[in-house]
Amino acid sequence: MYGGADSAALVVWWLAPTGGNLGDAPVIRTTRRWSGMWAAGWRLSPGMTTIGLIGSGHIGGTVARLAVAAGHDVVLSNSRGPETLQELVAELGPGARAGTPDEAARAGDLVVVTIPLKAYRSVPVEPLAGKVVIDTNNYYPERDGQFAELDDDSTTSSELLQHHLPTSRVVKAFNNIYFAHLRSLARPSGAADRSALAIAGDDAAAKATVVEFLDTIGYDAVDAGSLAEGGRRFQPGTPAYGGMYAAKDGNFWELPGVPFDAASLRALLG
Ligand SMILES: NC(=O)c1ccc[n+]([C@@H]2O[C@H](COP(=O)([O-])OP(=O)(O)OC[C@H]3O[C@@H](n4cnc5c(N)ncnc54)[C@H](OP(=O)(O)O)[C@@H]3O)[C@@H](O)[C@H]2O)c1
Repeated sequence: MYGGADSAALVVWWLAPTGGNLGDAPVIRTTRRWSGMWAAGWRLSPGMTTIGLIGSGHIGGTVARLAVAAGHDVVLSNSRGPETLQELVAELGPGARAGTPDEAARAGDLVVVTIPLKAYRSVPVEPLAGKVVIDTNNYYPERDGQFAELDDDSTTSSELLQHHLPTSRVVKAFNNIYFAHLRSLARPSGAADRSALAIAGDDAAAKATVVEFLDTIGYDAVDAGSLAEGGRRFQPGTPAYGGMYAAKDGNFWELPGVPFDAASLRALLG
């Protein structure tokens, strides 16, 4: 199994976006065939059809692509304004539109916060009241600056977001998979090579909502526990931080990645 100190350190580096640029990381383009194939075969959860994206970069754009392929609508947002997202909106088709972070937060039945951690205090609070919020963020001091409470491990990055959004229910997910692996490893329910993603959160119903969403976009889920305990099990520097979906020959970028099922993930999370 992929793991150990060396590989964990490697993966910390691999998953660290540097100024929004993941170097030579390959990017897969959406195809209508793929989208149509999925939309035809998958059932959607009633009442959970619009996904708000606060952040539409590597991970936000990938979640949006998977969501649209599964038949959800998405509302994208970023820091520079909706006009800068028109190319992605056009690629995704009629199920996608762009707005401000406030608009994406209001529109989403489920909202994904996927921005550099240093910007978490800018996430709108009131429009997210009562909503389930997926947190993909990781702490990278070289990008985010130093957070003393994370440096001394007295809290976690997802708990910071939960504290900032006291009326929302935060669920940690997607933070420990390289965006191109997330894109390429999605499979329909029941597929023999379906992968699982770890989740953590303090609200059981919110986690059930996220499990359901993950199922629609191509993944099983493993509940790692609360934000505090579970979140620490797959944050940067842990064996469950991304390497398990990567090629075993040491080429982390290699696609399509390696399927990793729920039982294996459960064992890795400990
Ligand atoms: N890359 C990966 O494979 C990966 C994997 C797992 C987790 N993560 C984590 O997930 C988060 C997002 O990573 P990423 O690689 O997707 O980053 P990215 O490609 O740099 O994209 C970041 C997105 O956040 C937006 N943004 C920045 N500040 C914002 C703000 N204040 N309000 C609204 N949107 C804002 C950016 O918009 P502008 O471009 O307009 O500034 C951009 O759309 C990070 O915390 C990262 O550590 C990344």
